[in-house]
Amino acid sequence: MSTSGTTEPVNLFDADLVRDPFGGYARLREQAPMVRGSFPGLNSPVWLVTRYDDVKTVLGDRRFVNNPASVPGADVHNIREELIQARGIPREYAAYILDSVLDADGDDHLRLRRLVSRAFTARRVAELRPRVEEITEDLLDRLPGHAVDGAADLIEHFAYPLPITVICELVGIPEEDRPRWREWGKGLVSLEPGAVAEPLRHMVTYIRELIARRRAEPAGDLLTGLIRTHDEDGDRLTDTELVTMVLTLVLAGHETTAHLIGNGTAALLTHPDQLAALRADPGLLPRAVHELMRWCGPVQGTRIRYAAEDVEIGGMTVRRGEPVMAVLVSANYDPRRFDDPDRLDITREPDGHKEVHVGFGHGLHYCLGAALARQEGEVAFGALLRRYPRLELAVAPGDLDRQFFPVSWRLAHLPVRLN
Ligand code: HEM
Repeated sequence: MSTSGTTEPVNLFDADLVRDPFGGYARLREQAPMVRGSFPGLNSPVWLVTRYDDVKTVLGDRRFVNNPASVPGADVHNIREELIQARGIPREYAAYILDSVLDADGDDHLRLRRLVSRAFTARRVAELRPRVEEITEDLLDRLPGHAVDGAADLIEHFAYPLPITVICELVGIPEEDRPRWREWGKGLVSLEPGAVAEPLRHMVTYIRELIARRRAEPAGDLLTGLIRTHDEDGDRLTDTELVTMVLTLVLAGHETTAHLIGNGTAALLTHPDQLAALRADPGLLPRAVHELMRWCGPVQGTRIRYAAEDVEIGGMTVRRGEPVMAVLVSANYDPRRFDDPDRLDITREPDGHKEVHVGFGHGLHYCLGAALARQEGEVAFGALLRRYPRLELAVAPGDLDRQFFPVSWRLAHLPVRLN
């Protein structure tokens, strides 16, 4: 690495950082604009950008690219390549998780994003609202039936099933197959070497078969539309890209949203004043979702970016080919941008409709599903609080099983009493 404010790279799985990521990132933020981070199993260190303004710069500056192949010259620290090896991903499947819209730059990125962006506009998302409400009410009807000794796990029986049902309906994955996706999804986020290969193989095989079925029997779903584009205009979507797009949408559409609902519900239940304010005025829901995304948004850091040329960040230099990760949860706690950032305050921003946090990213790769995710959050929190006026945690807050990974943070379970 070129310029370093620190000596040893920060191990992102370091026990102290995992135990107290917010405290850890606060120290890193003050230490230097960028510090070197390391992931177990990877050789190249990654610059961690932790301050709000710098995160926005990295994500908004076209000199940073997502695909190492977009960097001129050959001396790129190719983290993608290292990840494939470290996680034991078979070569023939690598493209399916590493060549998505998230990994594309320039015209390729625009081409892929445009294929699906119309399905996720604010208007289209608003049209989906009644169905999202229906799915939510149905899950809440069934929640008491899942309680054991008076406690139900909200992650298992609410936070996961809601977004997976919504995105599968939108894409066109039949109901009976959804539990399998849930299981495969769990395998895919596992960090055990080799654990990814098996679920990935199942998902790719499944999507290929579903494509064949839809081709024979078209439906009104997103998949049918993508197949039509592929078949009529192969220049716009290759075979691999078609499969990868479905995979990306289904995975991006539920893992993250599930943990917004999980982390957000836990945050409200451990902040009685905020909970009471929201119960008293459900009109605050949109602002509450913005604040929960800031305070406990589930995505810790973005996909790795690469400097296509030397770029200065906060007085330090990222050399061409070096990888950078924007640490979103750190930016969202930066006191340079947010007063008293540790405080959860659902009325925080004076203009409550504006999104200030970077929990959905920023710039060209800004989350395609943000409007949908926000809506699912609003509907989920709103209905949960209305239906269960005395909802409370069934364990002490300190006993919640929190899991911190470099790219996400989540609760493994959220036991609640419905009362
Ligand atoms: C991109 C977060 C829900 C689809 C992103 C990025 C973030 C993010 C941080 C940018 C990553 C980067 O720049 O490296 C979240 C969170 C969600 C959520 C926190 C829920 C609370 C969804 C949903 C969908 C979705 C429901 C459904 C379609 C995508 C896609 C991209 C993306 C396709 C890539 C966009 C591009 O590369 O142009 N998301 N997301 N996300 N998200 Fe989401």
